[in-house]
Formats: sequence, C-alpha cells, structure tokens
Amino acid sequence: MKKLVLSIFLVPFLACSSGRMDLAEVNDALNYCASQTKRTLTDLKSDSAIDYTLMPRNIMDSLSHWSLRKATKEEWTAGFWPGILWYDYAYTKDPVIKAEAEKFTASLGFLANIPAYDHDLGFLVFCSYGNGYRFTQNPAYKEIILKTADTLATLYNPRVGTLLSWPREVKNRNWPHNTIMDNMINLEMLFWASKNGGSRALYDIAVSHADKTMQCQFRPDFTSYHVAVYDTLTGNLLKAVTHQGYSDESMWARGQSWAIYGFTVCYRETKNPKYLRFVQNVADVYLRNLPDDAIPYWDFNDPAIPNAPRDASAACVTASALLELSTLTDNAKKGTEYREAAEKMLASLSSDAYQSRKSKPSFLLHSTGHWPNHSEIDASIIYADYYYIEALFRLKQLEETEAVK
Ligand code: GLY
Repeated sequence: MKKLVLSIFLVPFLACSSGRMDLAEVNDALNYCASQTKRTLTDLKSDSAIDYTLMPRNIMDSLSHWSLRKATKEEWTAGFWPGILWYDYAYTKDPVIKAEAEKFTASLGFLANIPAYDHDLGFLVFCSYGNGYRFTQNPAYKEIILKTADTLATLYNPRVGTLLSWPREVKNRNWPHNTIMDNMINLEMLFWASKNGGSRALYDIAVSHADKTMQCQFRPDFTSYHVAVYDTLTGNLLKAVTHQGYSDESMWARGQSWAIYGFTVCYRETKNPKYLRFVQNVADVYLRNLPDDAIPYWDFNDPAIPNAPRDASAACVTASALLELSTLTDNAKKGTEYREAAEKMLASLSSDAYQSRKSKPSFLLHSTGHWPNHSEIDASIIYADYYYIEALFRLKQLEETEAVK
C-alpha cells in the first residue's frame, strides 16, 4: 500500500508543457504504441507458437508480462487486443500486424453462434470485428457483427425499455432487470447493424435504452449511477446502486466515461439534440472535477484523494469520446473546450508518468479495474490501451483533416 501511495504522489503535473499535442507528437505516441504492440506479440510467442485464443488482460504493478485470459463468452475484455491490432494496422499498414489481427479476431467468431451470456457482446465483437470490418471491408466480418447484434438484442426487455446487462445477477443479487452504465458502449453495435443490413428494431432498442438510462441512471447534477435495477412487471426503477464505484452516491470515474462515450455515439447516430445537451452536461461535471493532470482518481468521491489510485482507462475512454464530441457540438466554444481537454488528457497519458515504456509491453500504467474487489489496482489494463490508441488515431485523423483545409 505504501508503494502505491508513493507512486500516486510521484505522478508529475504534465510532461507536455503546452498540454496540446501536435501531429508530430501524436505520431510519436502512435509509433510508441506500434513498438509496444510488437513487444507484446514477441512476448506472446516467446515459448511456442501463439495461442490465438489467449488475450492480454493486465499487468500488475510489480510484474512485467501480460496476464492472459482465454477468449470465452465470460471474458468481457477479450475484444480489446484484436481491436488494438486493428488500430495499429490502420496506422502502420503492416501486413504482419494485419495477419495477427485476423487470427486473434477469429477467436471471437463463436460469439455470433451462441446465446447471449451478457451485454458485453458489443465490447467483444465491435472492437474486434467492428474495427476489422472498418479497416478491411471483409464481408465475413459484417455477417458476424450482424448476427451478434441480433444476439445482443435478445437481452432487451420492452417493458423496462433497456437491455439486461447481467443475466447472472438476476438470481445472484436479486436484481430482476439490471442495466449498467457500461452497457451504453454496446449500443454502437446496434446502431451500426441497423444501418448495415440489420433490422430497424435494433435502432429502436438502442434509442429506448439510451432514453431510459438518461431518465433513471443519473443524479440531478449529471453524475451517473453504475447500476440501475428495474422491476420486470412495471418497468419502473427499483434502485440505483454501485458495483465498481466507491459508494452508491459517488461518481465512479470509468462509469462516467462510459456515459460520455455512449451518449456521444447516441447523438452521432440519431442527431437528436437532447443527447447532445445531455452528454455535454455529463462531460462537464467530469471535467470540472478533474485533478490538474486531467487523469481522474478511480472514483471522484473517494475520501482518500489525493492518496487514491488513478484510473488511466477512464481518461482514455473520455479523451476518445471528447474528440468525437468536439466535432459534433453546435457550440464552437464547447467544441474547443472538449478538444483541448482531450489533448491535455492524451499529453498527460503520453508522459513518462503514465506510459509503461521499457518497464512493460503495455502502452500505459495506472488504471484501476475493480477497487471494491481489490483487483487490478494501479495496473496496466488492456482496455486503457485500446481507448488510448483509438483516441490517438482519432486525433491524428482530425489534425490531418485540419492540415489540408
Ligand atoms: N465493464 C466493466 C468495467 O468497466 O470495468
């Protein structure tokens, strides 16, 4: 514990003095991701041939190699490593990376042919097959996404108006119909499928889920609850609680990031201004309460702050979302504010305070997975790396587009 507290105190203010990232700095960060990706691939094949069903998940603070998890229906993070490989391929155009991306992605294809285990199908299939399709247009990938979107939709309860996130907790915790904020991310796959040959019902489900979540899973100050528990007979909210946050009434950093990301996608896909107004409020309360280096403590209300762990993963998710939101908002001042905030986050993440560099093959340090369970505290976690490379990729595209204008 002493070591953890010390490492938190040592996080310096900002490596990049301006807090902005120009194209050369973004390319440097993407080159760094490319070389760390190669390191991970080398590590994965060090003993024998790569087992493509094993996905990097985390590297604890004291360790220097990825802990791997089997790509099963229960392993919600299994799509992030293939997704990273796709982003890296999109940046490097390296055919070796493409071939590895294809092989890891293929390990998740089984999800299109089994019943839904839980809501994480979007994370699993849209980060892997979704990116794969975006960068290759492989029609077989499209089929997998469309089938999985239909599977995800089976979790929809029309009386409540949301997707059931965790079927296992219906009995385990007596949460008859539960919806977690993370589930907002999975709506993107439904929106995409409905536009690409899937049913219109998928769009309607995504909209209904977003509306009910907006109505029931936020406090008046726009901070979010992690879990909403609904009555299956009336569809009414029974209670709103936490699972991974500090307390039921606290703002769990990654939950708020999922909300910022998810409602940004809802506005992109529907162009309904109510989502834009809402997501700006959800983003603004997060931004107002950040520490100086723009990387949140794992929960904004942990009384141990400033001696509490950070969550770099929340910063990565938020940075990626804000880059998109900065292009969607109709208010130029807000657009600039979101763009600058995202760049400040990425500059901070790209400093020696947060990049793993020589110490580990991950991109980043200092994420918090599940504080109440005492798991993955101050660790490298694969989804932080995924949203980091996604955010860098988005920033590169924005800066390149602006350069030719
Ligand atoms: N989806 C689980 C998490 O954010 O930790």
